[in-house]
Amino acid sequence: MSKKIEHIMVIGAGQMGAGIAQVAAMSGFTVTLHDVKMAMAEKGIEGIRKRLERDVEKERISESDLARFMRQIQPSDQIGNAEKADLIIEAAVENMEVKKNIFAQLDGVAQKHTVLATNTSSLPITELAAATKRPEKVIGMHFMNPVPVMKLVEVIRGLQTSDATFKTVETVAKAMKKTSVEVNDFPGFVSNRVLMPMINEAIFTVYEGVATPEDVDQVMKLGMNHPMGPLTLADFIGLDTCLYIMEVLHDGFGDDKYRPCPLLRKYVNAGWLGKKSGRGFYTYD
Ligand code: CAA
Ligand code: NAD
Repeated sequence: MSKKIEHIMVIGAGQMGAGIAQVAAMSGFTVTLHDVKMAMAEKGIEGIRKRLERDVEKERISESDLARFMRQIQPSDQIGNAEKADLIIEAAVENMEVKKNIFAQLDGVAQKHTVLATNTSSLPITELAAATKRPEKVIGMHFMNPVPVMKLVEVIRGLQTSDATFKTVETVAKAMKKTSVEVNDFPGFVSNRVLMPMINEAIFTVYEGVATPEDVDQVMKLGMNHPMGPLTLADFIGLDTCLYIMEVLHDGFGDDKYRPCPLLRKYVNAGWLGKKSGRGFYTYD
């Protein structure tokens, strides 16, 4: 029988990692939030505190809940802390080499029973699993942004992922009050194979002068009832992440229908990464 999951380590304290850490702590798990620098892990934890303070203001949680959740999360800049975790959820940048490197290190440090999950948006789980000596314990656990709000977790098995690993991740997702949907290991899975070409096409309409970003977003919000227009959503996701996902789809399927829009590439090269960098299709304070 699999060991009960008590301690979750999250690798990468950006918007997704911090969101996963928040939900994990609120679901009663002990959490380590790890990043390359302590200041980054602490920044992620500070963001969690701010969101929880808003929950207190709105009377969704009490002051003592806030204090308890915060006590459950510890920052880390030492990968060796992986030895304490029963489940590790990697949410670093969307780059295969970076993720393989992290997985190889985690495999060396983590206990034998520890499951290594990745929040990758699009990269092949099977290839990532091959960077470890425990491919049966590697799995995709793809949360949606913003994690505290969105109900879905896409669960992706690699070629060698065991049933026990799948069950562990499904049980943790349920404890986090998320609904899991199992999908096969193909580039972009389901979520980003469907969403990202729409975002890319919206960028092409701006690139070709069909309409302004504001008007493209207005069409999709008022015409299709999307909560955010595709360019606002691209800024929200991060333009670097959108570009990496389009590249994975383009390379993975070898089909030009997935070619990233040159305007997306140009913005990323300029450091315009969307909301997180203060500028993308829109500007942010
Ligand atoms: N973190 C935590 N909670 C947040 C949040 C955040 N970043 N942003 C909003 N919320 C919550 C808050 O609780 C807020 O309620 P309060 O104001 O009472 O605190 C509630 O959401 C509603 O927020 P707003 O009124 O500010 O705005 P909204 O009604 O437009 O909702 C939204 C915000 C939920 C983000 C909504 O716009 C939405 O659903 N947008 C689309 C999100 C989406 O498509 N996500 C998937 C992205 S793709 C992905 O994640 C996969 C990938 O691999 C790229
Ligand atoms: P982000 O840029 O906000 O955060 C990434 C974090 O990872 C940064 O804090 C960075 O310092 C850290 N990092 C980079 N290399 C690291 C390493 N070697 N070790 C530890 N930490 C490292 O990115 P994000 O939006 O949180 O995305 C993270 C992952 O989640 C990506 O794989 C992305 O595709 C995926 N994802 C993103 C979204 C989204 O909407 N943004 C949704 C679902 C999944």
